[in-house]
Amino acid sequence: MSDKKRILTGDRPTGNLHLGHYVGSLANRVKLQKEYDSFIIIADVQALTTHWEKEENLTENIYTITLDYLAAGIDPEISTIFIQSMIPELCELTMYFSLFTSVNVLRHNPTIKSEAAQHGFKDMTYGFLGYPVSQTADIAIFKAHLVPVGEDQVPHMELARRIVRRFNDLYKPVLIEPDTLVGDVPRLVGLDGKAKMSKSLNNAIFLADSPETLKTKIRSAVTDPARIRKDDPGHPEVCTIFEYHKVFNQDQVPEIEVHCRQGSIGCVDCKNKLFTRLNDLLEPMRERRNKFAGNMALVKEILFDGTSKARAVAQDTMYEVREAMEINYLNRPFKY
Ligand code: TRP
Repeated sequence: MSDKKRILTGDRPTGNLHLGHYVGSLANRVKLQKEYDSFIIIADVQALTTHWEKEENLTENIYTITLDYLAAGIDPEISTIFIQSMIPELCELTMYFSLFTSVNVLRHNPTIKSEAAQHGFKDMTYGFLGYPVSQTADIAIFKAHLVPVGEDQVPHMELARRIVRRFNDLYKPVLIEPDTLVGDVPRLVGLDGKAKMSKSLNNAIFLADSPETLKTKIRSAVTDPARIRKDDPGHPEVCTIFEYHKVFNQDQVPEIEVHCRQGSIGCVDCKNKLFTRLNDLLEPMRERRNKFAGNMALVKEILFDGTSKARAVAQDTMYEVREAMEINYLNRPFKY
């Protein structure tokens, strides 16, 4: 076992990952995988907490997200990608954590509240309300030190730290209190200028988009509505394209800002500059994706091996957890 510190992150397999995921947490995972022992969970059970009767595509979605990871630069030789439902020990640890987790604390979690509203849940299921407990088990069972996530996951991380501390105080200090790492851009705006890039808002640029799709999406993105003619002075502070330049094209930002304000660069040219930059970012990802997509047997093997490795770690931790909780009855001395 390596003596590197461990990272645990992951996503629900709900379709293709987009640039918001990339700048919010995926880029960090790619960057840190050499320095840390990296585990990436494909959270299929968590996806079922909102789609228990509707989810038909989990199988495909699991391969899709795996290809996204590999395309983004997650290296399966050094990172461990695994499937949540194939680690039954996670259910066990979730149950133990739930014994001392307050329902009121769960009800006050702002991410849970906004997701419940978004899904129109009037009466939340036990599984949905408790998914942050299950997520705590995902992190704790691997003794992760660091969790790179998007901004919406921060309340879950606070809960995770609280649960781990409580467990360690109640029983024995066998678990690790994880730190949170939010990406450089915690919340990337959508192509429509809305606060958040999201698949369900239909305003996302996916890592898997072709150059043509990328071009069309950038062309249709909203810019400064006050600019009618090419040489009208622009207001970069209200322009979605300028937001993206700030994130993905930092070197050219000062120049673009000046020219936009002077009306000496048109929106079409400005969008072309962004296209070039984003396409440079996505092209190597497309190449890696194509390489892996041409060998899906290998992708399946990556998932199988990753899951076997993760399960062994989970089993070791559960042994310690049961010892700490003294629920290893048949291994204990007894009086009768
Ligand atoms: N909640 C995360 C998401 O929706 C997915 C997730 C499940 C996760 N378990 C995790 C993230 C553990 C970080 C750590 O994307």
